[in-house]
Amino acid sequence: MDNPQLHVMQQADASRTDGSRAEAPRADAHSGGNGHNPPPAPSPTPGALPSAPPSVSAAVERARNFGNSLLRPPQPMPRLPLAAAGERRYAQIVGWGMQVPDKVITNQDLEQIVDTTDDWIRDRTGIEERHVAADPRETSATLGAAAARKALEVADVHPSRVNVIMCATSSPEHTFPSTGSIIQDLIGADNAGAFDLSAACSGFVYALSLARGMILAGDAEYILVVGTETLSRIVDWTDRGTCVLFGDGAGAVLVAASDVPGGVLAVELGSDGSGGNTLILPAGGSAMPASLETVSGGNHYIKMDGKAVFRFATKVMAEATQKVVARAGLTLDDVDLVVPHQANRRIIENSVLRQLKIPAEKCFINVQKYGNTSTASIPIALCEAIEEGKVKPGDKLVFVGFGAGLTWAACALEWSVPVGKRPEDNWWQQTRRQATYQAAAYRSMWKKAVRRVYDMLPTDPEASPAPPPSREPGK
Ligand code: ACO
Repeated sequence: MDNPQLHVMQQADASRTDGSRAEAPRADAHSGGNGHNPPPAPSPTPGALPSAPPSVSAAVERARNFGNSLLRPPQPMPRLPLAAAGERRYAQIVGWGMQVPDKVITNQDLEQIVDTTDDWIRDRTGIEERHVAADPRETSATLGAAAARKALEVADVHPSRVNVIMCATSSPEHTFPSTGSIIQDLIGADNAGAFDLSAACSGFVYALSLARGMILAGDAEYILVVGTETLSRIVDWTDRGTCVLFGDGAGAVLVAASDVPGGVLAVELGSDGSGGNTLILPAGGSAMPASLETVSGGNHYIKMDGKAVFRFATKVMAEATQKVVARAGLTLDDVDLVVPHQANRRIIENSVLRQLKIPAEKCFINVQKYGNTSTASIPIALCEAIEEGKVKPGDKLVFVGFGAGLTWAACALEWSVPVGKRPEDNWWQQTRRQATYQAAAYRSMWKKAVRRVYDMLPTDPEASPAPPPSREPGK
């Protein structure tokens, strides 16, 4: 294959086109549209109004219908057929991107805040500095959206072609709406479903395994998997046992359906809820709703039994790696690069290097620059490994993580796309890309404005509610 990345894309495009075509009549039958174009609005123009002088309530009703037509949610994603001509499908990573805030906090800076030393932090964790979202406008969603855009740019895929956005995060913007939905709006992925996945630091690998499942099942062609965090906002900056460990950032990969063999080969997921209290954010959920007491007691900050988590982590990282490698039909010697969750250099050394005897050059570590960025740490490490030329087509990789829950997750994959530097975009490509994101921002503003106008209309309790979006059995 001359250009596997191109082939991966073409294959995904071909399936997408076929799938959309196959589904069009069905969508039409329900909505009067093809699922992508907005359905025709009833009498939106003055010329379409009835000739008799309209009563006020009729005008309100028309305005309401018009508002409904603009606010109607996108049609459900069409169920796409399996790869054309009975081809086997593979879930290939075709795009990647990362984003960290500009502000860097060094160990020396932390010496000014809590009773700690640069020597202690380096020696016990390997961390030298971390990035922190100092600007309140920088959030888990904005960092995640920036990483997602970069992943789409690497793959040269338009946001409208993404079917699903899976956002793994331990520091979501809100309990709901999901940070995934906010990212969907920010990048203008108007045809995508979006949700958050909560499995703490294992979340990115959990999401990647779900993405693989959806792609192999034929339910999606392009899935954005995002890990994004602003942990600095839920860390107790007076607790030296935790505040020295964490950092902010985001990483994303675009997973595509492909007939090129390889991609995500096997996954291993695990959970031991009996250890939930060893790493917990106690308040703010339904078990301990926010109150004056929870706030004054510092219960909205991360609490951790560091030693217990350390013991658990070193054990499961090694076990999960062994299991996933075996499940993929490989041996540890076949593995070209392990990209572990970056929590603590000693955890990685004890598990990956000592227990599994994987040589240091086959294990990527960048915890010194970012600290523990939870769900973002593996995709950020992957981006840097690619940047440093440590990943090439044909390589067998293992991603392995652990986190609160307690959870663990590993996946084995065969890298298939070229990773050389992309040629610089020409002015037209850059302009087109900017225009895409600008248009997404205007679309979002327009929808919000329509909602506000709609809210101001008097409501008629007798009026029949807007019909629910059409659903087919089994979807
Ligand atoms: N600076 C200086 N001294 C410190 C600091 C600090 N920042 N933190 C703790 N100490 C002290 C302790 O108070 C203790 O002092 P004492 O002996 O007088 O009581 C001493 O250092 C040793 O403390 P330990 O807890 O034994 O230190 P340890 O070597 O275990 O390292 C650490 C602590 C770094 C937290 C380690 O246990 C660890 O990395 N655990 C795993 C944490 C982790 O990975 N969490 C994230 C999970 S992923 C997720 O889901 C978010």
